[in-house]
Amino acid sequence: MEHTEVVKPETLDDLIQTLHKIFESDSINVEEVQDIMEAYESNRQEWMKYAKFDQYRYTRNLVDEGNGKFNLMILCWGEGHGSSIHDHTDSHCFMKLLQGQLKETLFNWPEGKSKGDMVQKSQRILQENKVAYINDSLGLHRVENVSHTECAASLHLYSPPFQTCQTFDQRTGHRNTVKMTFTSKYGEKIPFESTVSQENN
Ligand SMILES: [Fe+2]
Repeated sequence: MEHTEVVKPETLDDLIQTLHKIFESDSINVEEVQDIMEAYESNRQEWMKYAKFDQYRYTRNLVDEGNGKFNLMILCWGEGHGSSIHDHTDSHCFMKLLQGQLKETLFNWPEGKSKGDMVQKSQRILQENKVAYINDSLGLHRVENVSHTECAASLHLYSPPFQTCQTFDQRTGHRNTVKMTFTSKYGEKIPFESTVSQENN
């Protein structure tokens, strides 16, 4: 695939504008998106208005709806917060570390009616400004802020956007479909009743 040179986005707004341009095309180049997201140097001043932390669990905060082509959001992870094992509903998922570190554990899809522990494929620590990529053909993952002293924030791009995903019980491989909700949109907290359901991503 042709590799076009990446022009470094100077700000988060600049990155969003560039992403809009890239996603005008019907076919997306995973490496191009990954490179452009990685080229943006996280600046807390630019994204802190979206970062709504919660004491008890990680939050999902919508930043941009990408003209219907993608959802861009910031996930805020308190100390020890983590996701369940989940899929990505046939979408592309890009995850850039804005602050702190996150541990990503990859799993194989549970086979048929197999009972017992899900098979762990690999594990890595994602560092600030790095971009991870996953889709359903690569497997499932769990994301965790394992630090007991530092919070973490990550910028996620999902294309096409999706509202439900499947979560998996590590011990049994049993799955549940869960609806994903936002804690805030465009920097504004959204009403309590719409944020109670189980969240994942
Ligand atoms: Fe994910």
